[in-house]
Amino acid sequence: MPTTKRNPFQPGYGEIPPVLAGRDQLKLELRDRIDATVERERHPTAIALVGPRGCGKTALLGWTAGKAKERKLPVIRLNKEDFAAVGDLELTLSDQVVSPNKSHDFSVEVKDPTGQLGSVRAGYKRETEYNPVERKQKLNKLMAAASTRGLVLLIDEAHDMPAEVGRVFYDSAQAAAQDHPIMLVIAGTPDLESVLGRSGATFAERMNTKRIGRLSWEDTSRALVEPFGGTATFDDLARGVVVRETQGYPHFIQHWGSALWNVLARKGATHVGHEEVKEARKAFDQACRELYHRRLHELDGEGMLVPVAEIAFRIGEGGTPSRRDFMAITRKMAYARDQREAEEKLLHTGFIWQEDIGNWQFGIPSLAAHVRREAVSMVLERLREENALLSFRRVRSHFKRAPLLPISCLEGNLRTVLKETGRETMVEKHLAAFSRMGLLVPDPDMSKGHVALMAPLLTEAVIEEADRAEAKPEMEPTQEPTLQTRHGPDDHAPGM
Ligand SMILES: Nc1ncnc2c1ncn2[C@@H]1O[C@H](COP(=O)(O)OP(=O)(O)O)[C@@H](O)[C@H]1O
Ligand SMILES: [Mg+2]
Repeated sequence: MPTTKRNPFQPGYGEIPPVLAGRDQLKLELRDRIDATVERERHPTAIALVGPRGCGKTALLGWTAGKAKERKLPVIRLNKEDFAAVGDLELTLSDQVVSPNKSHDFSVEVKDPTGQLGSVRAGYKRETEYNPVERKQKLNKLMAAASTRGLVLLIDEAHDMPAEVGRVFYDSAQAAAQDHPIMLVIAGTPDLESVLGRSGATFAERMNTKRIGRLSWEDTSRALVEPFGGTATFDDLARGVVVRETQGYPHFIQHWGSALWNVLARKGATHVGHEEVKEARKAFDQACRELYHRRLHELDGEGMLVPVAEIAFRIGEGGTPSRRDFMAITRKMAYARDQREAEEKLLHTGFIWQEDIGNWQFGIPSLAAHVRREAVSMVLERLREENALLSFRRVRSHFKRAPLLPISCLEGNLRTVLKETGRETMVEKHLAAFSRMGLLVPDPDMSKGHVALMAPLLTEAVIEEADRAEAKPEMEPTQEPTLQTRHGPDDHAPGM
């Protein structure tokens, strides 16, 4: 085993993997466009790489940048910090005009200690000092000047470009690309197309969208085995197990590969069999848990935990996502916002997405089981913290009778129930907590004062879990007195 060789796998984000598997056709197309740009051909159609996080969009941008540089094409690569405002884009382009031999990766350049960039930037007006027409003309001119030798413009995390920036930028990029050799590649999460639609309808319609999802069995196997470069052999069964467990998710492929490499290097072994897989699984599981944990907290922070958990419950174990699942959830989410915003928010999570027209998929299938499990305990814990489990049971039983309820009716009923425990003053606080947690959503026709239960299946699972916990107090003997005092009568009011 090559103990002296560096581990070639690239677990993490944005790293070009040792084998960029499953993207051969796309690489050919990207290479053709690079060649065309070198030959000064004009192609106003932008290429959009769309897919959930961890599937390899940034890696593909990096690959494209590398190939373009080999062909001596100027490359400007922008991340979300670089396009927060139109002025930032202007500065990047003007810098390209000032020093055309430099390729611009702003994620690196803003940290440039020489401060050169700062001085170029200092001469520019503040955002508010331009009118929109002036701004557009200026950007068009800069774009044209920056692309005299051809230009490869790569935009990562394009879903984060503010709509007002996008409107000016995409218009100008498209206009400049009519007359100049500009290759524009943008990458973003599955909400990108919708976000672009808000920026400028024609651009979104004309771009060439490539969906970057999980890899096939064969491509996963290649991505995993080839980096060992013949220095190790794989037991067929062991390889099959690993390929299956990666779920074709590129981020997981790198973690598995890296873990297996480390095991072989440590043991000085050259064969991957059952034992090696077992050992490597420890490191992989750890990486996997960390990713799940991060994702769950992100979902929670974005107020998406409840809708995403409900989707996970709707689809169920072994189920396949569908447009119906997507629409059912976004329609309810849209009670509190507009439908498009709801769809973008859900697509942005990449939890489920349309891998192909009409073909809905999980971003990471195994995340669903984790979300189902963890969301139940997180919601239950919060209900307990709010001392609101009794109220929530009541709310749940009311919604068994009707999908929409007048808030006044719900309030009246909760008041009666809580009165028995001397806590009727808590009604508003509890209802506010349910709405904050995303469990209750207002009816779109607010004038009628109705509310709906956002996640009926999650609600059932939460109540079942609460029942289970109460039925088995001996499982957590030390907690019993605390639960009694903290939650009072909540724990003794099942089956409402
Ligand atoms: N085609 C591929 N084959 C194998 N590994 C890949 C592939 N594409 C990306 N990866 C790896 O997957 C991880 C996530 O890639 P990244 O480009 O950051 O995804 P994204 O930008 O879509 O979030 C990285 O570790 C990267 O090296
Ligand atoms: Mg990325």
